[in-house]
Amino acid sequence: ASIADIKISRGTGGETHQIAEGDTPVLTTAHGIPVADDQNSLKAGERGPTLIEDGHFREKIFHFDHERIPERVVHARGYGAHGFFEPYRSLSDITAADLFQRAGEKTEVFVRFSTVAGNKGSPDLARDVRGFAVKFYTKEGNWDLVGNNIPVFFIQDAIKFPDLIHAAKQEPDRGFPQAQTAHDNFWDFISLTPEAMNMALWIMSDRTIPRSFRFMEGFGVHTFRLVNADGASTFVKFHWKPKLGLQSKVWNEAVKTNGADPDFHRRDLWDAIQAGDFPEWELGLQLFDDSFADEFPFDVLDATKIIPEELVPVQIVGRLVLDRVVDNFFAETEQVAFMTQNVVPGIDFTNDPLLQGRNFSYLDTQLKRLGGPNFSHIPVNAPRCPFAHFQQDGHMAMRNPVGRANYEPNSWGPAGGPRESPQKGFQTFPEDMTGVKRRVRAELFADHYSQARQFYISQTEPEQTHIKDAFVFELSKVETPEIRGRMVAHLLNVDKALAEKVADGLGLSPLPKPADPARPVITDLPA
Ligand code: HEM
Repeated sequence: ASIADIKISRGTGGETHQIAEGDTPVLTTAHGIPVADDQNSLKAGERGPTLIEDGHFREKIFHFDHERIPERVVHARGYGAHGFFEPYRSLSDITAADLFQRAGEKTEVFVRFSTVAGNKGSPDLARDVRGFAVKFYTKEGNWDLVGNNIPVFFIQDAIKFPDLIHAAKQEPDRGFPQAQTAHDNFWDFISLTPEAMNMALWIMSDRTIPRSFRFMEGFGVHTFRLVNADGASTFVKFHWKPKLGLQSKVWNEAVKTNGADPDFHRRDLWDAIQAGDFPEWELGLQLFDDSFADEFPFDVLDATKIIPEELVPVQIVGRLVLDRVVDNFFAETEQVAFMTQNVVPGIDFTNDPLLQGRNFSYLDTQLKRLGGPNFSHIPVNAPRCPFAHFQQDGHMAMRNPVGRANYEPNSWGPAGGPRESPQKGFQTFPEDMTGVKRRVRAELFADHYSQARQFYISQTEPEQTHIKDAFVFELSKVETPEIRGRMVAHLLNVDKALAEKVADGLGLSPLPKPADPARPVITDLPA
């Protein structure tokens, strides 16, 4: 922006007044009343007091006082951009989802990247999982693919999410740390949660210090379903592959970057898009059927597991391009409301107990965070296709039903508003369901070490060293020796050499006994 020449006059106190002339708009109150003086409140006499009669002053201060909304309970720090998705080919054989029907047809998207644990003002290069949330504004409604940059998760059941997040965020008595995983509560919880071991290996890897958002992968994490026009279902895992490749920082560099520029990731995304260097990801699908799901040694509904790409290769089916920065950070990036419950016809959930819990949580949290039931009226959240319903009123209602009908069925014919459509409407996949109600976890969810080991041995030697160094660094910040010992006991079930090196780095001797696995660890995953 260049500095424009606007006429200045000085007030009696020497204060600067800039006067609207020509095309310059006149400053008004929120209710449109023109403002004569924005530098001085209305006072009685030369030295006050300030008069309550000054509506402009009161409105300005009142509005400022209410600028903050609750930050997201997780993923508070994030950065968003607009763009588009286009499929390379029609996927009509596997899904009826409108956005996948026609090769090359663009669907608008809004994407928000985030860290998980840090508060809104925390540094970008914390060692943390990154959120990768995509809102597709399709012709049949908004589809939110609310993913992360790590393909697995810490827990198998949403009932543990509040515990995980409480343990990961700042400790309740001292209010720190804000953005690091390195503290007793976090490692206490992880070491008492064997199902977190695969994710523990992933978060100690370079993946959790991405070079920038442009260089990281994204994953839908859960197994979802695609359903075609004939009603046939295929299981799917969603992947985003960055065109620039996968790159990370080393810890030493990340610490310095955080000090020099805590906004490093958001600045990188803004600068790249503004320079016309649009970041791009390809959408990949891993597709499998019931018979694969039945033979796989883990439950495909367990979000702590991946489907190895050697077994089910990732098929590249389209691309996502981010080509426009936001006009306003708050209006778009802060107010965007992603919800896993938003799936469109042709895409459906599975019974993954983590996903089922998320489907409750996101709507609930938006109600609180965005202040009422009408957050879909905020432009970034509104569908860009025609929509019609009878929801009305509530705080901040921008759209209410027009005319007499605000219910259905009704007798008012075409003037009576929208009606159901069994043909076009979302149909839940009619999965066969039987069984007794129970809380007990399925046996197939019980091996927590095999994939952790598989991940570790798939890493190059320098990457393995980074994992070891990260464990030593993080656990060395843990003050309680028992917690360090418990983590090493788990690592003994993952990889003995890794466990020994970590123990050595921590000065832990003798080695603890390996943690008791609930179920024998599979030595070799199917090749
Ligand atoms: C926010 C991903 C598990 C509750 C987010 C965001 C992402 C995300 C990317 C940020 C959205 C944004 O940018 O605005 C994931 C993934 C999960 C997971 C990939 C597991 C696979 C859960 C679970 C729960 C949960 C199990 C609760 C039961 C929330 C809440 C928010 C959130 C409450 C804040 C939403 C907001 O205020 O806008 N999650 N999450 N998440 N997640 Fe999750």
